[in-house]
Amino acid sequence: MTFHHPPPDETEQPATRKAVLKHRRGSRWMHWINFPLIVIMVWSGLRIYWAEDVYAFGILGWEWFKFFPESFYETLDLNRRLARGLAFHFNFAWLFTINGLAFVVYTWRTGEWRELAPNRRSLSGSLDVLLHDLRIRKEEPPKRGRYNEAQRLTYSLVILLGALAILSGFAIFKPTQVFPLTWILGGYTSARIIHFTVTLAFILFFVVHILQVARAGWRNFTSMVTGYELVDIEPDEPDEPAESPKSAEETADV
Ligand code: HEM
Repeated sequence: MTFHHPPPDETEQPATRKAVLKHRRGSRWMHWINFPLIVIMVWSGLRIYWAEDVYAFGILGWEWFKFFPESFYETLDLNRRLARGLAFHFNFAWLFTINGLAFVVYTWRTGEWRELAPNRRSLSGSLDVLLHDLRIRKEEPPKRGRYNEAQRLTYSLVILLGALAILSGFAIFKPTQVFPLTWILGGYTSARIIHFTVTLAFILFFVVHILQVARAGWRNFTSMVTGYELVDIEPDEPDEPAESPKSAEETADV
């Protein structure tokens, strides 16, 4: 699919853009379904946490940081609603689990995992991306396929984070029935700490993800809605898809 734009003046060559398939339909659906699910899980989880907000940092009896001050719960209306928090959390947990499993199976079956999997150079490559993003390094680090090394690393980690949220969640949901799982996670208290830490990591990921998406621009954002990303091509470049779609099957799956 190619879009031709009228030239701004007579001497300039027509600017040409090409729509390249970036995200398959299945990935887009699961991505957008996941967004409200995580919001609901964090929101209902914090309602549960309010009922027994035990976590704090301190030395020798001096507490210097506590999750969270009462004003936090009051502002977000998270207090005194434990029953509703539990009801939402335990119902949406199943949808979150099903969507997560479906994503893993889909990514595996379509071979999309190859676009996400990090390798030995991903750690140093991610550092290069970070230095470039902070404008300390000028040259843009190369992408390997669709994503750069930092994206590969973060997206893979966030999938593992999802798995850990589910495993630690079930470990504290049914500690007797799934006792081997609770034991592997270090017991009930430890599994609960893991579950809470995962939530904080999700929130951190979300903030960084939004900033990165805003930085990457509108075309990148719309590609997660339409599936296609518009890329500029040189006027004399052949009008053929640059990366994908590679096959008719892929073209049909958008
Ligand atoms: C995006 C995924 C999830 C997030 C962000 C999340 C977040 C939270 C938070 C913040 C808490 C309060 C922690 C505490 O009191 O220490 C919590 C509690 C809990 N969560 Fe999750 N959770 C998620 C997924 C799940 C899943 C898949 C299950 C599986 C059943 C689950 C089961 C539980 C249970 C059993 C509790 C403790 C309830 C209690 O103390 O009575 N969570 N969750």
